[in-house]
Amino acid sequence: MSVLALVPAAGDGVRLGVGMPKALVPLGGIPLVVRAVRGLLDSGSVDHVLVAVREADVARVRSLFAGRPGQRPVGDAARIEVLTGGADRASSVAAALCYGARQHPEAHTVLVHDAAHALTPPELVRILVTSVAEGADAVVPVLPVADTVKEVDADGRVLGTADRSALRTVQTPQAFRMALLRRAYREAGFDPECPGTPSLSADDAGLVERLGEPVHTVPGDPLAFKITTAWDLRVAELLVAT
Ligand code: C5P
Repeated sequence: MSVLALVPAAGDGVRLGVGMPKALVPLGGIPLVVRAVRGLLDSGSVDHVLVAVREADVARVRSLFAGRPGQRPVGDAARIEVLTGGADRASSVAAALCYGARQHPEAHTVLVHDAAHALTPPELVRILVTSVAEGADAVVPVLPVADTVKEVDADGRVLGTADRSALRTVQTPQAFRMALLRRAYREAGFDPECPGTPSLSADDAGLVERLGEPVHTVPGDPLAFKITTAWDLRVAELLVAT
């Protein structure tokens, strides 16, 4: 069963504050997007990877994956394609999904994996692909919430306390039967023929939830944390150095 992975990596990384797109930020000398793609291919469960980056970065990222003399190539470069993403994350995923559906019509399973979750272990990728192969149409990795969570109003005044036992944080990859994720994006207003896409803030599984279709969970991994801030990057640097 053919498995396609989409890697939205077209963000500008403002919150990280390093003056370059987050996906290109080196972690232990290796750009986050390269680490994310390596994790996918090292799982042995992914056949093709489509990476969506800013238009201005397409050539640079293609050369990263093509490998340079003396550098370790990222898996089989022929299985990695780099294309232009969109104005927001959902548009980047939609562009890659559209391209992937055309180029890989045989794909049964699709993973959506943020470059920002660069240290996701290959074993978690394998678990997600297996879940879909065994019949789950949508699966996300989750972790329990350690902190108490409060809802606040615009002035910062507490409105209530959430029941932490029912809350989970969600990581990537998120895994789907290809036909279901395509339906979810179509129903969300993304044109199946590709150009001209709406903007929205739900994650990929959130679009499936809107269809009323079940989304399953598997235990996430602390290493699959999202690198968003300078603090996260520092933690990630310490992790790859040990
Ligand atoms: O900004 P944030 O970290 O939430 O973005 C999550 C992922 O979505 C990142 O990997 C980022 O590169 C990607 N993204 C994208 N296209 C955008 C904005 C974000 O692919 N226009």
